[in-house]
Amino acid sequence: MKIIMLGAPGAGKGTQAIMLADKYGIPHISTGDIFRSNIKMGTELGKKAKEYMDQGLLVPDELTTDLVVDRIHQEDCAKGFILDGFPRTIPQAECLTEALAKEDDQMDYAINVDVKDESIINRMAGRRACPNCGATYHLVSLKPKKEGICDRCGEKLILRDDDKPETVKKRLEVYHEMTQPLIDYYEKEGILLTVDGSRDIEVVFDDITRVLEG
Ligand code: AP5
Ligand code: MG
Repeated sequence: MKIIMLGAPGAGKGTQAIMLADKYGIPHISTGDIFRSNIKMGTELGKKAKEYMDQGLLVPDELTTDLVVDRIHQEDCAKGFILDGFPRTIPQAECLTEALAKEDDQMDYAINVDVKDESIINRMAGRRACPNCGATYHLVSLKPKKEGICDRCGEKLILRDDDKPETVKKRLEVYHEMTQPLIDYYEKEGILLTVDGSRDIEVVFDDITRVLEG
C-alpha cells in the first residue's frame, strides 16, 4: 500500500501516518522529520533546510525530491510506504509520479486530512514533538503517559522551532499557495480521499482505515 498524507501544517498528517504505519507494518517517511534529524546532526542538508524551515518556507524541490525517490527505493519500502509532508508542490508530485511510472507503478491513495486554519493555530500551540522518533503529542488532546516524555522511545519532548504563532501563520500561507493545488492534482489522478480531520484522532483513523480496507 502506497499512501500520501496531504493536509495543512498541524492537520494531523503525522499523527495518522504513524498509526497507519504501525497498523500496516510499512515505513512512515516524513520529509519534515528527515530535515529535522539532519539539522540535529549538523549535516550540510540540515544547515540548508534550517534556513527555510525557520521562516516557515518550503525547502527547495531540488533538496527534497531526490532524497524521497532514493528513500522509497530502499528494501523496507517494497511492500509500500506512507509519505508524510511529501509531495508539497506540483513539481514534487510530478517527479514522484514519473519515478514510479518508470517501474509501471503508482501511488494508491492520497489522503487529504482537512482541518480549518483557525483550529490549526490552536493545535500547534499545544503540540509537543519527539526530536528522536518524530511522534507528536498534544497538551490536551493527546497527552503522553508520562508528562514531557515520549511513549515510544523515552526521549524528552520539545516544542518545535517552527511552531511559534507567527511561523505557523506563514506555513499556512505557504500551504494554501504551494501545496493545496495537490488536492486537485490527486483528484484528477483518481486517488484522492478527503477526511474531516477536525474530529477525534481515533474517529479520523477509523474513517481512513475503513476506506483503505473497503
Ligand atoms: P513538516 O514536519 O511536514 O510539518 P507540516 O506539514 O507543517 O506539518 P506538521 O508536522 O506541523 O503537522 P501534521 O499535519 O503532521 O500534524 P500532527 O500530526 O503533528 O514540515 C516542516 C517543514 O519542513 C516545512 O515547513 C518545510 O519547511 C519543510 N519541508 C518538509 N517537507 C517538505 C517538502 N516536501 N518540500 C519542501 N519543504 C518541506 O498534529 C498536530 C498537533 O495536533 C499535534 O499536537 C497532535 O497531537 C494534534 N492532533 C492531531 N490530530 C488531532 C485531532 N484529530 N484532534 C485534536 N488534535 C489533534
Ligand atoms: Mg508532521
